Amino acid sequence: MTSNEPLLPKDLFVGLERVTHLCTGGEAPWLRGFEEVYKEFARLKSDGLAGRERVYEIGDECRDLMGQLWGVPGHRIAFMPSATEGMNWLARGLDWKPGDNVVTDNLEFPSVAYAWRDLAEAGVEIRMVEHDDFHIDEDALLSKVDARTRVLAASQVSFYTGQNLDIRRLALGLRTSAPSTLLAVDATHAAGVVDVSAAVTDLCVSSSYKWLLATHGTAPCFLSERAESMTRGSSYGWHNLAVWPAQGAERAPTVDEKPMPMRLEPGNPAMVVVLFLHHALSQLLEVGIGPIQEHAWNLSERIDAGLRDLGHTVISPSARVARSGNTCFLVPDAAALQQDLARERVLVWGEYGRVRISGHLYNDDSDVDRILEILAKIR
Ligand SMILES: Cc1ncc(COP(=O)(O)O)c(C=O)c1O
Repeated sequence: MTSNEPLLPKDLFVGLERVTHLCTGGEAPWLRGFEEVYKEFARLKSDGLAGRERVYEIGDECRDLMGQLWGVPGHRIAFMPSATEGMNWLARGLDWKPGDNVVTDNLEFPSVAYAWRDLAEAGVEIRMVEHDDFHIDEDALLSKVDARTRVLAASQVSFYTGQNLDIRRLALGLRTSAPSTLLAVDATHAAGVVDVSAAVTDLCVSSSYKWLLATHGTAPCFLSERAESMTRGSSYGWHNLAVWPAQGAERAPTVDEKPMPMRLEPGNPAMVVVLFLHHALSQLLEVGIGPIQEHAWNLSERIDAGLRDLGHTVISPSARVARSGNTCFLVPDAAALQQDLARERVLVWGEYGRVRISGHLYNDDSDVDRILEILAKIR
């Protein structure tokens, strides 16, 4: 096996000298460079309108960096408050009719599975494809789609198993069999670590606080032109309406909505987080998503092999392209194992009967060796 050195030095992050950090799927460690970003934000925040305008300029640069990462134009990326809001935008915004349906799967993150919960009252069917031994089959998802499917909703990378769904295959399948169905993707466990092809989706949203290396409060969201034209807003304010400068001080009974990216931003996004995200994206793009993905796959294969040697039941896929940064195995008391590991200063995420080990660009073989050593010891 080749040796996997970190793609970003560990000392660029707070605290990595003290722990073996393998829980980016829960919370990423904090980039030391954010201290300078915060100082810059504090200076701009105190500098009146000129400072505000510069903050917005950096925000637009951030949209462009996000667009670069996802292969879409920056002006189609909005900053939502959380990834959860992305799916809810579609749930609230489409003109649902009785007999319509949504296709998703029964191993989904709650925000993807349940964004549609109120639609049952409107006669909309929620179709959940069942996982097959923790595997979600793209063809099984497509087989549930019919002419009344308004949305196919899925996480690109599963929070539970780390499976990296073939989003292009889903998009191609929809194009041939159900061209009016929207493809909505939660890329929270994909963005920043594996390739995300937002251009083939209608909505692609991600939290910022995991693999994108920023923090809570801002979730970049791509919306396709057709999804934009098919959805109605449900929250309006100064930021997403054509009030300034068109109307001046006085209000009129009617007002136009602004197009993307403002469309999804009724008020100010959390701009300090956008500035953190800008810095984090610059770091990620400098390394490049190709090398990061290869690195994550290498670590995942190594973790997987080690877990199997120890007799654990790994539920992450073994095909390389279906891997991600998350490698997961079943444990009856996952929270207890997480705590046992934490006592040894090894950080993972354990819940719902499985432990998730996450490897990102600052992890290396020594992190993998260390967790395997501790797991062998406390078995
Ligand atoms: C797939 C997925 N989507 C969304 C979230 C939560 O994101 P947010 O708090 O930004 O809605 C998580 C958190 O674990 C997740 O795993």
